[in-house]
Amino acid sequence: MGKEKKYKVGLAGVRRGGNIVRALENHPQCEIRALCDINTDSLQKQGREFNVPDSRMHAEFDDFVNEDIDVAVIATPIEHHAEQSIAAMESGKHVLCEQTAAYTIKDCRKIIEVAKRSGKTYMMAENYSFFHCVLEWKKMIEAGRLGKIYHAEGEYLHEITHLLVDPETGEKKWRYPRAPIWYCGHSLGPLLFLMQDRVVKATGVTPGKNMHPDQDSVSFLDMETGLFQTEKGAVIKILASQTVKRYQSSKPKYLTWYSLYGTKGFVENGRDPHENGLEWVEDVDSKQDGARHVDTPFSDPNAPPEARHGGHGTGEYSMINHFIDALDKGTLPAFNAVQAAEVTAPGLIAHESAMKGGRWIDVPQFGW
Ligand SMILES: NC(=O)c1ccc[n+]([C@@H]2O[C@H](COP(=O)([O-])OP(=O)(O)OC[C@H]3O[C@@H](n4cnc5c(N)ncnc54)[C@H](O)[C@@H]3O)[C@@H](O)[C@H]2O)c1
Repeated sequence: MGKEKKYKVGLAGVRRGGNIVRALENHPQCEIRALCDINTDSLQKQGREFNVPDSRMHAEFDDFVNEDIDVAVIATPIEHHAEQSIAAMESGKHVLCEQTAAYTIKDCRKIIEVAKRSGKTYMMAENYSFFHCVLEWKKMIEAGRLGKIYHAEGEYLHEITHLLVDPETGEKKWRYPRAPIWYCGHSLGPLLFLMQDRVVKATGVTPGKNMHPDQDSVSFLDMETGLFQTEKGAVIKILASQTVKRYQSSKPKYLTWYSLYGTKGFVENGRDPHENGLEWVEDVDSKQDGARHVDTPFSDPNAPPEARHGGHGTGEYSMINHFIDALDKGTLPAFNAVQAAEVTAPGLIAHESAMKGGRWIDVPQFGW
């Protein structure tokens, strides 16, 4: 057995980023070395938690990116993702960047170009694809038990109006200009990951801003529906909302729902933590049987207790293991620069379609 590689990790954007780094901190090959945030109070607080000295805490991203680190985790607002990911790779760092990858197709292409030129590993941190039930479905699909997938649905319905506009001050926050379906990573991401497919055409539709007619931002659209045609001939439907009156919970099990239909069966998860999922698989179930109720946990029941430190069930833990494994082996991770673009771009195009009356639009294709 060779000596295990060690990775010095830095984090930019310490709020949500704290969870990812907590998961990395538990990984035996990782050491948290440097932090960056424009908010110096948050920076100090996070620095104390991870024992990072003042000299390695930076308010300026340019200083952070020149730190002696191997991996830069980017968890700043999405508008900074492309520029910061590119700067980090240009400075010789591997990148684990929050989702989605960028707000424009042009920036998606730039990330791919720099990942290719620099030889550095880029992964979009699409943690929902690493929920336990998603990984179990992946094994079923790879074994051919669902046959050919021809239809899939994903929902990400998360009421976050307080993160669009501050309810007390009226201040518009960074998510304010974000159309609901631009944030399609947690819904479209796991489906494409499972189907090993890519979107070729998109259309979008929206009911408008009936709940917030006075808000001039597309982020307040009540719901956005994207329909996608894939290269393998499947159809995917995504529902996305940031204002929906549904559950007042930010627990992923309340917000997220998936279903996949194949020529030999179907699977779907429960609609909330109290509900089972459903499954019917030709080689197990008879025609007379209805769908079976099955547990579809987001946490791996056999994972060690520290696997939950990152949050999102064991999603962060499994995602980090996947990323570090790719670094060790020098292989492309899931949600590498091309696949990150393939998850990000369809949402941008579906919104463009919705704003143009819902006509079908070709989705740009990406490659190495
Ligand atoms: N995968 C998930 O489950 C998940 C959950 C929540 C958020 N996110 C993603 O994480 C990212 C951050 O979201 P959040 O909820 O923490 O946002 P936030 O606004 O709560 O926090 C962002 C942090 O980044 C800092 N920041 C802003 N601009 C910066 C810059 N230019 N350089 C350095 N630091 C900067 C802010 O001071 C703040 O501490 C976003 O990309 C979001 O989409 C992902």
